[in-house]
Amino acid sequence: MVDNFDIPDSVLQKIGTARHVAVLTGAGISAESGVPTFREAQTGLWAKYDPQELATPEAFQRNPRLVWEWYAWRRELVNKAAPNAGHQALVALAKLVPQFTLITQNVDGLHQRAGSQNVICLHGNIMETKCFALGHRITDWPESDELPPRCPECGSLLRPNVVWFGENLPADALETAVHAARSCDVFLSIGTSALVHPAASLPLLAIENSAFLIEINPQPTPLSRWADVTLSGAAGEILPLLLARLQK
Ligand code: OAD
Repeated sequence: MVDNFDIPDSVLQKIGTARHVAVLTGAGISAESGVPTFREAQTGLWAKYDPQELATPEAFQRNPRLVWEWYAWRRELVNKAAPNAGHQALVALAKLVPQFTLITQNVDGLHQRAGSQNVICLHGNIMETKCFALGHRITDWPESDELPPRCPECGSLLRPNVVWFGENLPADALETAVHAARSCDVFLSIGTSALVHPAASLPLLAIENSAFLIEINPQPTPLSRWADVTLSGAAGEILPLLLARLQK
């Protein structure tokens, strides 16, 4: 526990007087829920696969069953996970500020399960399913021995509703996220390696518009040099402490 962690007064003052707080989260905020971060080594039978080689349309077209089963394994992991104190602290933060925008790169749905509203899911949601050809959102499909199952609307193969490498992000989600980054006065980047664009450009848009940038990550990232404050530690420990100080 980092109860002796020193949250700078500037952070408390900036958030305490903020008009609009925007937050971008990455896999790091779900790490303490037991969901491996995107770039951590994969475990078990998936250890030999590089996620960046499975999460692509080409991989799916080459071997749809393998990719479908990889996501089924990840859905299992996510189903067993629960939101942690970091997710919950963001639910509390949203209630403290006049305007709050939560943007996530995560597909695990843990922010929503913690109670966050209007979460902007830049990379989709692993618990949702759509068809490969036309993007029909499908919630249930006829039992079949064939894996992946087929879309009841158009017959094409079903796939998880997540953004794969080389695919565009959902336009409305990205537009809302860019608008929030440009109009917020405090931007928090939490648990992301800040490597993957366009998500990684959001904090830079925020500082271009004079927002106060706070990064929460146990490790430095390419964003750290731009942050007004970097809180080096685990989100599940720092965020509850930050909320406790803000609620005093
Ligand atoms: P990464 O796995 O790239 O980075 C996770 C970050 O979380 C790292 O910087 C860790 O230092 C940090 N971290 C680890 N434990 C933490 C903790 N307890 N608290 C806070 N931070 C912690 O995951 P992302 O940055 O989310 O995109 O990756 C971004 C995107 O890259 C993913 O959404 C995925 C991938 O390409 C798509 O799938 C389209």
